[in-house]
Amino acid sequence: MNKSKDNIKEDIAGVLIDSEQVQNKVKELGKKISRDYKEKNPVLISVLKGSIVLLADLLKAVDISCSVDFIAVSSYGENTETSGVVKLIMDLRESIEGRHVLLVEDIVDTGLTMAYLKENLLTRHPASFKICALLSKPQRRQVNIDLDYIGFEIPDDFVVGYGLDYDEKYRNLDYIGTLKPRIYQKNG
Ligand code: PRP
Repeated sequence: MNKSKDNIKEDIAGVLIDSEQVQNKVKELGKKISRDYKEKNPVLISVLKGSIVLLADLLKAVDISCSVDFIAVSSYGENTETSGVVKLIMDLRESIEGRHVLLVEDIVDTGLTMAYLKENLLTRHPASFKICALLSKPQRRQVNIDLDYIGFEIPDDFVVGYGLDYDEKYRNLDYIGTLKPRIYQKNG
């Protein structure tokens, strides 16, 4: 078994978006969402696992009636590159028929995960469907996908923190940082 190293900050090359910037942006998104979904009782669907930190903060930034649900897909596994095949690992608990759906995602990279989820969820006849992503890497897009609420557009760096992992670690950082290449290259 690998000896686990506790000082995860040593693996970070730099801070791309600091905690205050993230928090301010999430509050701004929460205000917009509250305005747009007034009296619509939306369901915020968190795409596990990366979006849990965003969902928790976004929920607190939204001041209208809403509910939450969770869905899990996978395409990356332990790799830094997507396999291109998106698999549904865990489905929603509730029906979304007739509901206003807001999909909450930490990052849109190739867009394959969002495209898959959009196609899948639209077959369930929601009243509306929108996507909120904290981060977007437009340079990496393989499929065209409209994002209704975006926090930050970022360059094609390998980022971790605020829910985003590498090899299941670093999700607990309260900022978005870039990972030192030696960390992901040693397994590559
Ligand atoms: C990450 C991220 C998105 C997806 C985006 O999830 O949370 O769901 O990749 O990539 P794409 O636009 O190229 O499809 P990951 O598969 O790493 O799972 P995790 O959320 O459990 O970390």
